Amino acid sequence: MSPAAQILATLRKSNHGISGTDLCGLMGVSRAAIWAHINNLRQSGFEIIASPHRGYELISSPGKIVAEDLESRVHEKQLIGKRIRVIESTTSTNDEAIKYASGPEPEGLVVLSELQTQGRGRMGRKWSSPKGKGLWFSVLLRPSLTANECTQLTVAAAVSLRRAIIEITGAKTDIKWPNDLLVKGRKIAGILTEMQAELDCVKYVIIGVGVNVNQSGDEFPEHLREIATSLKKITGVSINRTTLAEAIFREMDKDYKRITHGRFEEIAQEWAINCETLNKDVDIQTGHRRITGRVESLDEAGALLVRTQHGRIERVMGGDVTVSK
Ligand code: BTN
Repeated sequence: MSPAAQILATLRKSNHGISGTDLCGLMGVSRAAIWAHINNLRQSGFEIIASPHRGYELISSPGKIVAEDLESRVHEKQLIGKRIRVIESTTSTNDEAIKYASGPEPEGLVVLSELQTQGRGRMGRKWSSPKGKGLWFSVLLRPSLTANECTQLTVAAAVSLRRAIIEITGAKTDIKWPNDLLVKGRKIAGILTEMQAELDCVKYVIIGVGVNVNQSGDEFPEHLREIATSLKKITGVSINRTTLAEAIFREMDKDYKRITHGRFEEIAQEWAINCETLNKDVDIQTGHRRITGRVESLDEAGALLVRTQHGRIERVMGGDVTVSK
C-alpha cells in the first residue's frame, strides 16, 4: 500500500482523529513527510482537518475516484485490487489492461477510467461510458484454466457484481446469461471478457466491467433509454462509486478464489438461483447459428445447456439470448 493509501486507511479507522506523532510512529516516516502526503491528498479533493486537540481528521472524500483511496480499502489478503490504476480518459480500460498484461504485470491489477471514448461491449457493440457517471474498469487475471474453462470467470463476475450492487444499493438485481445484470428488466451492468491463449494455455484474461451508476435518463444515448438504467435512476439517490467499487473488488476476489480452489460449483449454484435465463424458453443467436429451446442448466465450464425443440441438448458458450415471453 502506498503511503497516501496508508494514511487514508488510518484516518478512516480513527473516528476521532489521530495525532501527527501517532501517524509518524505508525508509518515510520517524519512529520514533514506526513504533512506533504496530507497536502497532496487535500489537493486531490480530500477534506482533512488538523487541530491541536484531535490531530488529523478525514471529513470527506472527493466525488471522483482516486487510486490511493480505493487501494486503502482493499484488504491486504485480496488479490483483485492489490494494484489499482485510475486514469482520466482512455479508449477502453480493456485496451489499457491488455498493455499491462503483455508485460510482467502480476494478476490482480485493476485499471479504471473516468471516461472511455471507445468503450466496447459484446458482439462488437459500443459501451456508453460518460465521464464520472459509472464504473468502467478491467481486471487482469492469469488463471490456470483452459480457454474453455475461462467462461467460469464471466459467470463468477456476474454473481460477484450482483452481490456487491445489492449490498451497496439494495436494488434487486438479476443475472441474464452470460454477462448482463438487470434491474427491473433493464441493463445495469455488463461484462466483457477478453483473453489471450496459446495451445489452450491461457496467458491472461481481462474481465472488463461496466456499471451504470449515476447517469440520469438523458445521459444515456437515445437507443439505450428503454433498455438500460442506472443505479441512481433506480434508487433515486447518487451512489458513491468508490464504495461500490470497493465492494465489487472484494466480492470478485472471493469468487476468483472459489474458482482457483476448484469450487466453481458453488458459484454455479448461486448463479442458477439468481438467473432469469434458467428454465426459460430462449432464442440464442451465436455466430451464424440460432438456437431455440429451454435453458436447463449451466455446466462445469460455465456454458449454457439448452434443450432444443428436437429434444437434444445444445451446449452454448456465448451468444445473444432473448427470453421468450
Ligand atoms: C456488454 O454487456 O456487452 C459488456 C460491456 C462491458 C463494458 C466494460 S466497461 C470497462 C471495460 N472496457 C470496455 O471497453 N468494455 C468493458
